[in-house]
Amino acid sequence: MKINLAVIPGDGIGPEVTSEALNIIKAAAGRFSHKITLTEAAAGGAAIGKYGEPLPRETIDICKQSDSVILGAVGGWQWDNLPGDKRPERALLGLRSSLGLYANLRPAVLHAALSGACPLRPDIAQKGINIMVVRELTGGMYFGDKGRKRTDMGEAAWDTELYSAEEVRRIAVRAFESAIKRDKRVTNVDKANVLESSRLWREVILSTAQNYPGVSLNHLYADNAAMQLVRDPSQFDVIVTTNMFGDILSDEASQITGSIGMLPSASLGDSNFGMYEPIHGSAPDIAGKNLANPIAAILSAAMMFRHSFALSSEAAAIESAVTQTLEAGYRTADIYSEGMKHVGTKEMGSLIKKGVMDFAD
Ligand code: IPM
Ligand code: MG
Repeated sequence: MKINLAVIPGDGIGPEVTSEALNIIKAAAGRFSHKITLTEAAAGGAAIGKYGEPLPRETIDICKQSDSVILGAVGGWQWDNLPGDKRPERALLGLRSSLGLYANLRPAVLHAALSGACPLRPDIAQKGINIMVVRELTGGMYFGDKGRKRTDMGEAAWDTELYSAEEVRRIAVRAFESAIKRDKRVTNVDKANVLESSRLWREVILSTAQNYPGVSLNHLYADNAAMQLVRDPSQFDVIVTTNMFGDILSDEASQITGSIGMLPSASLGDSNFGMYEPIHGSAPDIAGKNLANPIAAILSAAMMFRHSFALSSEAAAIESAVTQTLEAGYRTADIYSEGMKHVGTKEMGSLIKKGVMDFAD
């Protein structure tokens, strides 16, 4: 297969983890005889330096001409005081909406080798964690009307949570389709006891569920869901939720699996095109020090092979190389514990790469 990828390394640890992910992609391409072409593009702080804006037109064009996008992370303290529409984070939101990537899949899995890194009580961790957060990605509060005005209480500001039935329907379909391939359970998370947007959200989830009689559905309010995630995460299979609740709950889900440095994500639309990125941020405090965990970026590459190119052996080769490397005791600082072998970003990448090249179907 010939695969054209756009690569956006971004800021902070983005370039380091992306470089390891690309090594793994090349290794998998070599092992399974694919031809990969890479085109680099700038976004986030890196683009502000070069073009004066976080998401230049050229970057969107490069992405649109590619089969998929590999992204590192954006943001950093240098840009923290810029106005909202000039900040590096705008690039992420702009990429998601201009590429039509409304469905964000964030799997949170507790690897057996890392059960010691789970901050929950051992009797809870022991029951296992294998959750797929399906987060709506191009609607809701992050994209709704916003602004500021003077009031008699002084300066005021607002953001709007707005969802159309169609936006809810298409993300619901993603969640149910994903559940069919998993444990066939969907939990809808909303705040229908308070928000009108959540009441419409829930109605559409319920009507979409009619088409999936084999999948069981339950509903939780977002505050309760946050609590249930730490009380008993084994109760969840697929969680479907709004942009904002998904942002919050996916960070929580990542932490209970040991480290946010482990979790990949896929952002998808209606075609096979996708954008793949670790869910962690740019971590400027450890950037350039060979300390970052590249596993989230590497597992994002595995998701790319599976979701955009239907290459499941390639994905499995990467995932099993990660598992093997962890089982052999190798750990970056974020997941290190007594008695394990401490390695840096590059060493972790090389060990996983070797596992991919040696992979036997
Ligand atoms: C994420 C991040 C982004 C988001 C930020 C950086 C804009 O937190 O991908 O979860 O809120 O979506
Ligand atoms: Mg987030």
